Amino acid sequence: MKNKKIVIAGGTGFIGQALTEYFGRTNSIVILSRLSGDTHTNLYHQKLLTVDDGYLVRYVKWDGKTVEENWSEEIAGADIVINLAGKSVNCRYHKKQKQEIFDSRVNATNALGEAIRKTSHPPALWVNAASATIYQNSLTAPNDEFTGVISDRKEDNMPYNIIDNLRYRKNRLLAALFQGKESEVYKNLETDFSVQVCKLWEKVFFEQETHGTRKVALRTAITLGKAGVITPYLNLCKFGLCGKQGSGKQMFSWVHVEDVARMIQWLYENEKAIGVYNCVAPNAVSNYSLLKSLRQLTGNKIGLPAGSWMLEAGAFLIGTETELLLKSRWVIPTRATREGFVFNYPLLRNALEQIIADLPRRNYSLS
Ligand SMILES: NC(=O)c1ccc[n+]([C@@H]2O[C@H](COP(=O)([O-])OP(=O)(O)OC[C@H]3O[C@@H](n4cnc5c(N)ncnc54)[C@H](OP(=O)(O)O)[C@@H]3O)[C@@H](O)[C@H]2O)c1
Repeated sequence: MKNKKIVIAGGTGFIGQALTEYFGRTNSIVILSRLSGDTHTNLYHQKLLTVDDGYLVRYVKWDGKTVEENWSEEIAGADIVINLAGKSVNCRYHKKQKQEIFDSRVNATNALGEAIRKTSHPPALWVNAASATIYQNSLTAPNDEFTGVISDRKEDNMPYNIIDNLRYRKNRLLAALFQGKESEVYKNLETDFSVQVCKLWEKVFFEQETHGTRKVALRTAITLGKAGVITPYLNLCKFGLCGKQGSGKQMFSWVHVEDVARMIQWLYENEKAIGVYNCVAPNAVSNYSLLKSLRQLTGNKIGLPAGSWMLEAGAFLIGTETELLLKSRWVIPTRATREGFVFNYPLLRNALEQIIADLPRRNYSLS
């Protein structure tokens, strides 16, 4: 793809920078960011790509919620708008954090919708990030766009490690006793937060009326590249902790970030593409296989397993949730493959090989 204008909201993060690297030498990229002009790195301490690195990229300030002329005029004449903006879900799900996770996604999506409606030269395509976590916890069958099960009942999404389960049952009992089953607290305990976020995000997106602009929600799996989740996994390997997590049977759906970029290009070129697409490699693996591959590729023979209680304690200490590791995400990209998209990285092993080979050696240890 050449000479296109691509606006990426939230493009300073892991996926946004990878998209800039992929498209930014031959297309003009405008990144909408809340950062001030003197910020040079993102939350992964990656240096932000600039014109000096050979990329046609500009950073334009927005607040992620208000339509202002300085950034909304960038939408005019854009070929693709990609929305990646949202507070990271890699945190403890306390009330304040949860609200920020909801609000950041809803506000950014609303603001982009309004800006697209206002412009006289709307983009051909608007791709909104979405998440493959929308599908239920599944150990028995994969979910796709046609038959996948989307349920926000807590019980359909919990990974059911003993600690999570006990905590959930205790809180539910207390809420039923002291607040009643009709209370907000009780209902919140019954529903799964992550699925609610995914559902609301897509609802707000598809509610935007943007005549002349095709809309695609990209239900993206855990994305692998030189930043993002690969860093903590390689750190675990370094310390010999790269054994199975929990039962190890939970499925790990993933996608190479290069295939995310390629799928966006394919969606742009495929003028019939509209609606929901799963952006996940066709071959999910179990958590056990993921960690085995990582051990083999980093040359770490020892990989101590981490039981659910250890993960629970570790997640508390590093300020995240075990759901990110323990939910069984089994998703396949039926729509894209049926319509002709071919993944460069259909197999995890090849994806990891490429990513690890590309990383500086200090990021992992070789025995
Ligand atoms: N990485 C994955 O495996 C994965 C999988 C499925 C879905 N997704 C979704 O895809 C999107 C991009 O993923 P990513 O890994 O690139 O995320 P990321 O590294 O966390 O980047 C997201 C960007 O969103 C912006 N942002 C953060 N908080 C915000 C707020 N309160 N209001 C407005 N903007 C805010 C930030 O840009 P500024 O600070 O510059 O404004 C940040 O760079 C996210 O929404 C994520 O949920 C990611």
